[in-house]
Amino acid sequence: MHRALLILLLAAPLACDDPGDPAPFMGDDDFVRDPALDVELVSAHGDAISHATGDNCMRCHQENGPAPGKFTAAGTLHDASGAPYADGLVELRSAPDGLGDLVAAVEVDSLGNFYTTEPLPLPASSLFPTVYSGDGARKSFMPFPTSSGACNVCHAGSFGVRLPEA
Ligand code: HEC
Ligand code: HEC
Repeated sequence: MHRALLILLLAAPLACDDPGDPAPFMGDDDFVRDPALDVELVSAHGDAISHATGDNCMRCHQENGPAPGKFTAAGTLHDASGAPYADGLVELRSAPDGLGDLVAAVEVDSLGNFYTTEPLPLPASSLFPTVYSGDGARKSFMPFPTSSGACNVCHAGSFGVRLPEA
């Protein structure tokens, strides 16, 4: 069983090099994105139109992807237990631990996801993420800055972006 799966996975990249290969895969520079998808989308408390909790949103919500809105920052906030945490807040700042200038504040939706298409200085400049619980009583911050707003690329599995215990 495992061996068959492995062979399929190994064969996959070869299949893409086939001259007869039809459409470019999403994420590829040749992927043609429908301009009608370039809408502004920003998450808000109580919203429930997002999906794919925990996944890398920018796999699809990007310049060469098929999803509405080119996200500049997006991901999923979790509670200390590891479950998605609704209606919190994500800030991107010029310094760690909620200090420095506020560059963006993105409300977490009711599924625990946050996303924005607003222009950000990433990746040219790096920003410090700080996350807050809905009442602001709990927070957690990244001690060093990130030049990528695709939070779930690094924060995957048990390393999801999390709030500390109450
Ligand atoms: C595998 C590709 C893919 C991934 C990964 C993905 N999305 Fe999407 N998303 C789509 C597509 C395609 C649509 C439009 C069709 C639909 O609504 O299902 C969409 C729709 C949405 C919408 C609704 C937009 C609207 O105007 O109604 C939101 C919000 C959204 N995604 C947020 C996210 C967030 C946040 C993440 C990551 C946690 C994410 N998506 C991950 C492909 C993806
Ligand atoms: C390039 C990888 C990477 C990206 C992208 C990234 N982070 Fe992090 N983040 C880390 C690492 C590594 C740590 C652990 C730092 C430590 O504990 O010393 C961390 C720690 C954190 C922490 C504190 C620990 C925790 O999980 O609560 C928060 C909060 C956080 N990141 C939020 C975010 C947010 C929000 C984004 C997206 C805007 C983001 N990060 C993007 C790598 C990344």
